Amino acid sequence: MNATHTPRIFSGIQPSGGLTLGNYLGALKRFAEYQDSGLETIYCLVDLHALTVWQDPAALIEQTREAAAAFMAAGVDPARSILFNQSQVPAHAELSWLLSCVARVGWMDRMTQFKDKGGKDRERVSLALYAYPALMAADILVYHATAVPVGEDQKQHLELTRDIAAKFNHDYGVDFFPITNPLIEGAATRVMSLRDGSKKMSKSDPSDASRINLTDDADTIAQKIRKARTDADPLPGSMEGLKDRPEARNLVNIYAALSGEGTDQVLARFEGQGFGAFKPALAEVAVAVLAPITSRMTELKSDPAEIDRILGDGAERAEAIARPIVERTKEIMGMIRSRG
Ligand code: AMP
Ligand code: TRP
Repeated sequence: MNATHTPRIFSGIQPSGGLTLGNYLGALKRFAEYQDSGLETIYCLVDLHALTVWQDPAALIEQTREAAAAFMAAGVDPARSILFNQSQVPAHAELSWLLSCVARVGWMDRMTQFKDKGGKDRERVSLALYAYPALMAADILVYHATAVPVGEDQKQHLELTRDIAAKFNHDYGVDFFPITNPLIEGAATRVMSLRDGSKKMSKSDPSDASRINLTDDADTIAQKIRKARTDADPLPGSMEGLKDRPEARNLVNIYAALSGEGTDQVLARFEGQGFGAFKPALAEVAVAVLAPITSRMTELKSDPAEIDRILGDGAERAEAIARPIVERTKEIMGMIRSRG
C-alpha cells in the first residue's frame, strides 16, 4: 500500500441480473465485514459496466434496485458505507476516458474476461466491453482507493488497475494514484457452478440449476444442492484428498464459507461420509444463512423510493470525494479549466 494515501476500500458489482451465492460469498459478505475494519468503505452498483452488454432499460432499473437491496440485506449499512450506483457520479466516466489514454491496447488484449465474454463474436461485441477495464480502474482510482475486495476472477483487472496507476504516475512524474491492493481472501474466492466444477458460478450461466440465486426459496436451494454434480466417493479427511475432485471441493468450500469454519474442520466432521449425508447438511447451512437475507431483500424491495433515496444520498457523498480527484487529474494532464 502506498504510504501517502489514506487507506480506503472500494468495490463494485454489476446489476446485470440476479446475484448469486458466488457474489454473496466472494463479495457481499466481505463488503459487510470490512465495515468493521475502521476504514472508509465505498460500494458501487456498476450500472455503466452492465451496459457493455444489452440491458432492457426497465429491467436494468429493477435489477439495480434489487442489487442495492441485496447489498443491504447482506449487511452493507448505508450509514456506515457509501452505497450508490455508478452512473449518478459522472466522475467515473470522465476519469475512464483520461485513463484510457494511459492504458495500452496490448494490456487490454490480455484480459481473459473480455476473451470469455467476447468469445467467437469478438468483432460484434460493444466497444465498451473492450474498454471495460479502464472504467473499472477509474472506479477505483477516482476515490484513491487503496484496497479492493473481489473474487478471484477479478484479479487480472486489478493488476491492470495497478499498471495504469503506475504508468500515469511515471508519465506525469507524480505520486498521485495509489497502487491498489486486491483483497482476495477466504474459502470462497471462486465459487464454482453446481453443474460443472471447472466453471465459476455465474448469473449469466444459461442453466439456473448451476447457481443458487439470492432470491431462491428454501426448497429451491435444497433441490439445487441435492442435484449438484458430485462423485461417488466418500469425503476424505483433508483438502489434499479433494485435489482432483473439483465438484466435491467446491461443495466443501461453500460449506466452510457459509458456516464460518475452516475446510479441515468441515472435513474432520464428514470424513468417510458420502454426499447422501453431506448434501442435506449443506442445504441446511445454506438455507439458514440465505433465508434471512432473501426475506430482508423482499422487504427492502417493497419500498423502491427509499432505495433510490439511499442511492442518491450515497452518490452525493461519493461525488464529494471523486470530483476533486478527477479535477486534479485533468490539471496534471494539462487541461485548461477557466470556467467560473
Ligand atoms: P460480477 O457479478 O461479475 O459483477 O461480480 C461481482 C463480484 O462478485 C466480484 O468481486 C466477483 O469477483 C465476485 N464473484 C462473482 N462470481 C463469483 C464466484 N462464482 N465466486 C466468488 N466470487 C464471485
Ligand atoms: N468487473 C467487476 C466484476 O465483473 C465489477 C467491477 C466494476 C468492480 N468496477 C469495479 C469490482 C471496481 C471492483 C472494483 O465483477
